[in-house]
Amino acid sequence: MAKYGHFDDANREFVITRPDTPLPWLNMLGQDDFFGICTQTAGGYSFWKDARLRRLTRYRYNSNPMDNDGRFLYIKQGKTIWNPGWKPVRTPLDAFECRHGLGYTRITGRKGGVEVEQLIFVPPDENVEIWKVTVRNASRTTKRLSLFSFVEFCFFEALNDMTNYQRTYSIGEVEVEGSAIYHKTEYRERRNHYTLFGCTRDIAGYDTSRDAFVGVHHGLHDPRAVLAGRCSNSRAYGWNPIGAHQVDLAIKPGKSEAFAFVLAYVEQGDLPKFDAPFVMNKAKGRDVLAKYSDMAVVDGAFAALRRRWLDLLSAYQAPQVPNVHLQRMTNVWNQVQCMATFNLSRSTSGYETGIGRGMGYRDSNQDILGFVHLLPARARQRILDIASTQLSDGTCFHQYQPLTKKGNADVGGGFNDDPLWLILSTCAYVRETGDRTILGEPCGYADKPGSRDTLLHHIETSMAYTLRNRGPHGLPLIGHADWNDCLNLNCFSKEPNESFQVTGDIAGSKAESVMIAGLFLYAARELAALYRFLGSPADAARLDGHHADMLRTVEEQAWDGAWYTRAFDAEGRPVGSKACDEGKIFIESQAWCVLGGAGAGNGRAKKALQAVEKYLYRPDLGCALQWPPYSTYHLELGEVTSYPPGFKENAGVFSHNNTWIHICWALLGDGRRALDYYLSICPSAKRDHDVYRSEPYVYAQMTASQFSPTPGEAKNSWLTGTAAWSFVVGSQYILGVRPEFDGLRVDPCVPTDWKGFTVQRRFRGVTYTISVRNPRGRSKGVKSLLVDGRRVEGNVIPLAAGAGTAVSVEATLGS
Ligand code: BGC
Ligand code: NOJ
Repeated sequence: MAKYGHFDDANREFVITRPDTPLPWLNMLGQDDFFGICTQTAGGYSFWKDARLRRLTRYRYNSNPMDNDGRFLYIKQGKTIWNPGWKPVRTPLDAFECRHGLGYTRITGRKGGVEVEQLIFVPPDENVEIWKVTVRNASRTTKRLSLFSFVEFCFFEALNDMTNYQRTYSIGEVEVEGSAIYHKTEYRERRNHYTLFGCTRDIAGYDTSRDAFVGVHHGLHDPRAVLAGRCSNSRAYGWNPIGAHQVDLAIKPGKSEAFAFVLAYVEQGDLPKFDAPFVMNKAKGRDVLAKYSDMAVVDGAFAALRRRWLDLLSAYQAPQVPNVHLQRMTNVWNQVQCMATFNLSRSTSGYETGIGRGMGYRDSNQDILGFVHLLPARARQRILDIASTQLSDGTCFHQYQPLTKKGNADVGGGFNDDPLWLILSTCAYVRETGDRTILGEPCGYADKPGSRDTLLHHIETSMAYTLRNRGPHGLPLIGHADWNDCLNLNCFSKEPNESFQVTGDIAGSKAESVMIAGLFLYAARELAALYRFLGSPADAARLDGHHADMLRTVEEQAWDGAWYTRAFDAEGRPVGSKACDEGKIFIESQAWCVLGGAGAGNGRAKKALQAVEKYLYRPDLGCALQWPPYSTYHLELGEVTSYPPGFKENAGVFSHNNTWIHICWALLGDGRRALDYYLSICPSAKRDHDVYRSEPYVYAQMTASQFSPTPGEAKNSWLTGTAAWSFVVGSQYILGVRPEFDGLRVDPCVPTDWKGFTVQRRFRGVTYTISVRNPRGRSKGVKSLLVDGRRVEGNVIPLAAGAGTAVSVEATLGS
């Protein structure tokens, strides 16, 4: 750990102590409309709402070296040029530190007696990114230097920007006014917005042409203007507009100077577009720059960001947890990652390019499970947005674009797990808030936007869809795929130029998914509980009936002897069965059947989990997705067999599905295993970062498994359903404080040697301080519950009256 950095738990920061981390280690900036990704060397880019349709600065993915473009400061001191973040020049620094914090990144570099700190953040509710720059002279002589800023503008529509140069090289337009650089490409025609990059201090010069500042045959590591120590006040006409400022500084010994660069996205609204022909109306941009030219306002904006995050996190804090990894992930980093997945779904990260996948239907529904306690009102709106991408027959657009909220027609629907996830997100929202009005909100359908059908109709439509679309074993049809996007049982693709997932005819297909059956069981229980809460026992009983029927089918058709079969292919042959040569056991069907209540009375749940332990689990890696991995491509199984063994869905450790197993162990009351399994994939608990490579503070989608040549190497950090589900595991199942429709359940499942812990939970306006004691060394089972000193039967804290009050709870484990 110490090799590249460490957690600063008190400040809720991860401190990176050398810039050459094994992979770029990212932070995510912004949580309203303006977002940025930012690496430890200030790499990354910024966008407004939608990384494809409103990208503000340019970034080249799959670059070499990795992570080349960004928000750079160059220092020219005598003959030396350097960056406080080390890149792109990579001049060795006397000191380097990057602190990734709650929505900000603070990079500090020192060289030749000068220290430059760049604090990058997006203030709450503003469409700006601020870089507060502090230059300190730590030496005994006056330091004279030039500081240059640099961003490269993106022409807003990122796909066009990176593919259509015959057009883009001729459209770039900028204006400059004082220290404000305005990027206004396509503004003359249909755009009514622009990007501003300004400096709050007087400048000695600027550049807006990349060729002038960087040079056609130079790179960001040796830009001509910086080498020369001078900008040339260039104006970009076409080609590649950039924003660069030159600031000349003379700083006395021991003194420092602070100022800021401001990157803003401005929409003109109803303002007149032009002041004069070819002269854009810049009134709003001027106001933004004027506002942040007061350093007290910059500091105030940063303080507001800090307050916002601390307030958000105060909804769930567990200050005394016997395991440090669980504590810091649950209290800080897991919630930070949940904010990112809620906002970005699977669209934009170091691995998602912001142009491929927008918001995922199943993904965004699951993301709500870990986010809803933070900002329930935003979760509410998201649920309604997602529901309106459902079609009236129950299918759903698999993905949609955040700006337009319209489904992606190229991918379409037919992923048959999709509809059911809406039930989980909706129930999580109602459990958190008690707000049943969401169920009566009209949402419309993608094919019938004017429909007044409510959210509750959508939910019933989802259940009906699953019930209606079942195969020969009575199990749900899989369609293009279920949660495992790569289990494409109807694809049969021989052609490398086509998508596994949407090729193949799903109409009339018989391929079935046991995972969807388990998810249906879970959803049916959730919905029955919701109906009971709503006072509709008849509906609850109807759902109980569906649960019982599907449960019977699962137990009769899908038990393979020692675990649950994964699926039945288009010919009705089992997948994930002892009868298979490879892919004998899969993780998802064990998890979802158990979560849905299968195997509870007949010992199968325990057996299924023991099989997971035997064939899939490794304490240092987590659980592989299946065993044995597929060594050859199978036409009848699709993309799952396309990956080299041990990677991704072909028996990689896919973190997301591990979390379900953690819940299963907790349900079975095995606190030791619940925690050990939790730690097996926990990034904070990883020790060798040259092997793990990804960020130690957020989950990655996948770690190469024991079946791969590179076990333990993680990939695709940040945007994974693991974020939400791990928060659910840690907060609701291990620490065990779980929202119910009618109160807060206290049902921890911990190792027997834990003596106790405390959770502070804000729930429906009331703050509960819950102390859990374990005097008899139990794993699970609350023996007594004292609420403000009064004994309560069972383990649910009844709803307290009066928002803003505080309730103190004492729970004792025992029997
Ligand atoms: C990946 C999956 C992912 C899917 C998205 C596949 O190639 O392996 O993890 O869900 O693409 O379309
Ligand atoms: C990542 C996708 O975003 C998610 O929707 C899917 O369930 C998993 N991969 C597994 O394929």
